[in-house]
Amino acid sequence: MPARIIGTGSCLPIRKVDNKELEKWTDTTDEWIRSRTGIESRYIAVEETTTSMAVEAARRAVENAEVRAEEIDLIIVGTVSGDMCFPSTACQIQNAISAVNATAFDLNAACAGFLFGLAIAESYMACGRAETALVIGAETLSKMMDWNDRSTCVLFGDGAGAAVVRKEEVGILSMVQGTDGGGGDALWCHNRPVNNPLVKKEWKPEYARMNGQAVFRFAVKTVPGAVMQALDQAGISAGQIKYFLLHQANIRIIEAVAKKLGQPAEKFPTNLQECGNISAGSVPLLMDMLNRQGRLQKGDKIVLAGFGAGLTWGAAVLTW
Ligand code: COA
Repeated sequence: MPARIIGTGSCLPIRKVDNKELEKWTDTTDEWIRSRTGIESRYIAVEETTTSMAVEAARRAVENAEVRAEEIDLIIVGTVSGDMCFPSTACQIQNAISAVNATAFDLNAACAGFLFGLAIAESYMACGRAETALVIGAETLSKMMDWNDRSTCVLFGDGAGAAVVRKEEVGILSMVQGTDGGGGDALWCHNRPVNNPLVKKEWKPEYARMNGQAVFRFAVKTVPGAVMQALDQAGISAGQIKYFLLHQANIRIIEAVAKKLGQPAEKFPTNLQECGNISAGSVPLLMDMLNRQGRLQKGDKIVLAGFGAGLTWGAAVLTW
């Protein structure tokens, strides 16, 4: 497949909120959150926005990839929490970083957003429509939380991750995506209701809602299958993979996937302890952290996997 990740960047809000502080906001305990999810803290936007974090992550990725903004011909942002209905976050990034030659748009595949964006970028490259893309996952989920709904608000955080993807022979080896719209009632957030001269409704803000156990079952069942399918397509065994970078939803989901794949926990790096679940931002942010720690070497085989509302899922095998 003709696409390779050549640079990464990320951005987190300044303000970190640990579980102890969260105890003051909602009826929960540090012990409950740690033992059920592995999460110890998350970053919450105060001054930052989805766009500002996405722009910063994009700038860092462009710098890391050593490309010029004018070389970028495609910008895709996976997000469920854009600051505006329109223009899209991607259009605002295009303007902010002066990527004057880029076509830019957002996509909504929830926590699989980065994987879906990567697949679109790769397809554009395969058919000759793009050479250098920015794929970004960015979220300000804190604005969509009901802070009295302890079963949901404790899980999520804010942040952004970005990757520069270039048309090259060696790179992405395989990608799979899937959707089960029938599972849409496991995790949802309503938009504005119909409201016009014909239908007058009192409009209250809507918040994210979740059936945690349904999402848990879906993730543990679907993710190992998607990863195995991607490995099969790439002709690579799980043993040859250096790191599995999974969406950072819950440490117990990651442990269950590791077990099903028969791989040791050390191959599954995590940052959910510090960052919580950043939806589309999770996978690229984790990838950037590893990249900047010098843990990704040229030639390493890596798996990326995202899953979430929709239900949606995606997995990719790549050579670094
Ligand atoms: N603090 C304290 N107690 C809490 C709590 C919190 N933050 N959230 C829920 N509880 C309580 C419940 O009210 C319930 O109490 P009860 O037994 O008196 O009714 C009890 O804890 C157990 O709740 P339950 O929902 O059965 O817990 P669980 O073991 O299924 O864990 C999740 C809940 C959300 C942690 C778990 O289901 C999960 O991680 N699911 C996946 C969610 C996810 O990853 N979503 C994003 C995917 S992209």
